[in-house]
Amino acid sequence: MALKVAVLGCGVVGTEVVRRIHDGRAELAERVGAPLELVGIAVRHPEQDRGLDVDPDLWTDDALGLVERDDVDIVVELLGGLEPARSLVVTAMARGASVVSANKALLAAHGPQLHATAAHHGVDLLYEAAVAAAVPVLGPLRDSLCGDRIARITGVVNGTTNYILDQMTRTGGDYAAALSEAIDRGYAEADPSADVEGTDAAAKAVILASLAFHTWPDPARVHQEGITGVTAQDVADARACGRVVKLVALLEQTCESDGSRQVLARVQPTMVDRRHPLADVSGADNAVLVEAHAAGLLLFTGAGAGGLPTSGPVLGDLVTAARRRLQGRFQSGPLARRAPAGPIGTHT
Ligand code: HSE
Repeated sequence: MALKVAVLGCGVVGTEVVRRIHDGRAELAERVGAPLELVGIAVRHPEQDRGLDVDPDLWTDDALGLVERDDVDIVVELLGGLEPARSLVVTAMARGASVVSANKALLAAHGPQLHATAAHHGVDLLYEAAVAAAVPVLGPLRDSLCGDRIARITGVVNGTTNYILDQMTRTGGDYAAALSEAIDRGYAEADPSADVEGTDAAAKAVILASLAFHTWPDPARVHQEGITGVTAQDVADARACGRVVKLVALLEQTCESDGSRQVLARVQPTMVDRRHPLADVSGADNAVLVEAHAAGLLLFTGAGAGGLPTSGPVLGDLVTAARRRLQGRFQSGPLARRAPAGPIGTHT
């Protein structure tokens, strides 16, 4: 029996995901153990030609109608943003569908509630693509590192800003031209201000913290500075002293004198020594450096943005969710709670 899949959103990532579900159906069926059947693709403009060879009847502008269906097994949410994504995902889970999402803003803002909803309805909520695109970092943090104690994570987790800073470093190029190239290459968000102002990286920092430190920091308390103020002179000055400017996300857990633990989370442009592993992250690549008590130093790196690289973990989560439905096993995810009250985002 086929597992029914609905896709919400068909932008840069969605187009690749739909193409790969359709073109790779034989291979996916083999990996899952049952065929995956696309039953609908919700988009704002169903009439628009996206160059996809799928049944024209699949296109709909009725996303709610799609997630309200009782026969959908897995909803792939690629809309981005908070609403209507949140309501649609909650409705889908309440109807018994597992959810695969690449939506970092949604997870950062509502992660605990969404996990609680998934657990309540006994469905999966998977989102490896939400952080660092093709770089598999959430899975290792959630699984093989969950018995370890993580001291610190430093990462370059936004491809657009890394592309811009890399272009400015290598060619002395202009910020605006590099941003426009990043948009053309499909790296940037629908609203690129989320990239250049650090909001996208801050959301990813929240998700990383939830897995590394087993608590969800409040996104509003992540210190966030983007790269809009970084000048060609800053980049040249860094270069002159053997450094490169990167937008770095830093996450640490501190132990206070009263024994309580606090998560410190910051996103800010940083001068990184050329010998540091993050200095080598080029183009739209991402890298996440994990410092763990038992495992030591671990570096996860690779393509951090773009349709094809991001479609990889979406497809991976889709296969996982499908296999788990066949086996009747679901996972509710990390702890569904926020950090205790305390100073998050201050770093002294
Ligand atoms: N706009 C994001 C970035 C896409 O540039 O990193 C991947 O999350």
